[in-house]
Amino acid sequence: MASIVGSLSTSHIPAIGGAIAKGLQNEPYWKPFFDGFDPAREWLAREKPDVVVVFYNDHGLNFFLDKMPTFAVGAAPEYRNDDEGWGIPTLPPFKGIPELSWAIIDRLVASDFDIVTCQEMLVDHAFTVPLKLFWPDGDAPVAVPVCINTVQFPLPSAKRCWAMGRTVGEAIAAFDKDLKVVTIGSGGLSHQLEGERAGFINKPFDLKFLDTMIDDPQWATQYSILELVEKTGTQGVELVNWLAARAAASAGPMRQVCRNYHIPISNTAAATQVLEAA
Ligand code: DHB
Ligand code: FE
Repeated sequence: MASIVGSLSTSHIPAIGGAIAKGLQNEPYWKPFFDGFDPAREWLAREKPDVVVVFYNDHGLNFFLDKMPTFAVGAAPEYRNDDEGWGIPTLPPFKGIPELSWAIIDRLVASDFDIVTCQEMLVDHAFTVPLKLFWPDGDAPVAVPVCINTVQFPLPSAKRCWAMGRTVGEAIAAFDKDLKVVTIGSGGLSHQLEGERAGFINKPFDLKFLDTMIDDPQWATQYSILELVEKTGTQGVELVNWLAARAAASAGPMRQVCRNYHIPISNTAAATQVLEAA
């Protein structure tokens, strides 16, 4: 049986991709962020997962405002990256695992999640940046992309994203192959890129959120999307990706392997957290 050994989450600011391409990891601006990945990579080198399920939001590369699924799951043999206009180099395609994708899709639909299935799917910085951060040598395992709309209202509630993540976790636990799986939650934490509150950051909320991810992971599901926008910024709602990834891994407490929180990278409170099965 497949089992989820950990839930990894990180911010996905496009400028990180540029910093990696230019080798700026040890520059004073970047070092406090990149240093947070050393213990994560040591943990991954020990655990050697076979599969990564990435919960992320597309920002207009694969889905534009004209067609915006609430939840979409990739079921392709590979996922291509493409130029989004951020000036970061396009990465080579990421390998998929269609068999597991379809098991997840079957379970979600059987559990009344009306998802979009994608046998072709471009992946943007929210997918590529976390994989490049956790596997800098480009040796990320095969992946299942699970895309959540955090971009165009109406957005799915935090509670719904939690429930969707739980169902993905059930599908993985029932998958009849001996695979070690990790989940990734991509995005956040608090940030707002536009409007009067551009640059908004809420450190007390972020730190509370990181604490609750360990042993009270449904805490943030008490809030509506509008409350989360108020508390974390228009793009801070990307934290629903963290919730779904955490939900897939476990409904109960997990053990924190490492955590990093650094303000700011670009306009964002940059956070990284690795949790392992308790
Ligand atoms: C930034 C953050 C994001 O989450 C994103 O998708 C794009 C840009 C930023 O802080 O620059
Ligand atoms: Fe984003």
